[in-house]
Amino acid sequence: MKGYVVYDSAYGNTQAVAEAISQNLKPLRAAAVSVSEFNPGTLATGDFLIVGSPINGWRPTPKITQLLTRLGDGRLKGIRAAAFDTRVRFFIHGDAARKMTKLLTDGGAHIISDPTPFYVRGTEGPLRAGELEKAAGWARNLASALDRKATP
Ligand SMILES: Cc1cc2nc3c(=O)[nH]c(=O)nc-3n(C[C@H](O)[C@H](O)[C@H](O)COP(=O)(O)O)c2cc1C
Repeated sequence: MKGYVVYDSAYGNTQAVAEAISQNLKPLRAAAVSVSEFNPGTLATGDFLIVGSPINGWRPTPKITQLLTRLGDGRLKGIRAAAFDTRVRFFIHGDAARKMTKLLTDGGAHIISDPTPFYVRGTEGPLRAGELEKAAGWARNLASALDRKATP
């Protein structure tokens, strides 16, 4: 079993969360990969896929949406998956993680966590205090969910 933490990021905040997740999924193998460099052909049955995007206008970025749309129609069968987004703490901020989770489900993935938000202080960041620690904790929960599923 191997995994990927695939992210899009304009200012580095979503990338930093993706890297914290990838580091804290250990001992599972999970590289943090930019969506521009990710080759979905490398996904194999039993792998896992964590997807992260900044909210852009109430939705994931076009690159992330394009990737997940390409993986629709059951192409994620046998893949465990979860999604997170980064966002500002507006009164109304919209959502990307829930939309990505829906697209992952449409692709046939088995969802292993609720959609999860991480918060930045402004459009360019930085991340709010404690968010990288929160990412590490989320990753440890993902790792135990993946571990439980791997052991029948
Ligand atoms: C064009 C644009 C639209 C945005 N729309 C939203 C939004 O609808 N809701 C929100 O909470 N944040 C919004 N933001 C703020 C981003 O979520 C924030 O820039 C992002 O979390 C930073 O992550 P990054 O450094 O990985 O790009 C928007 C930012 C940009 C540039």
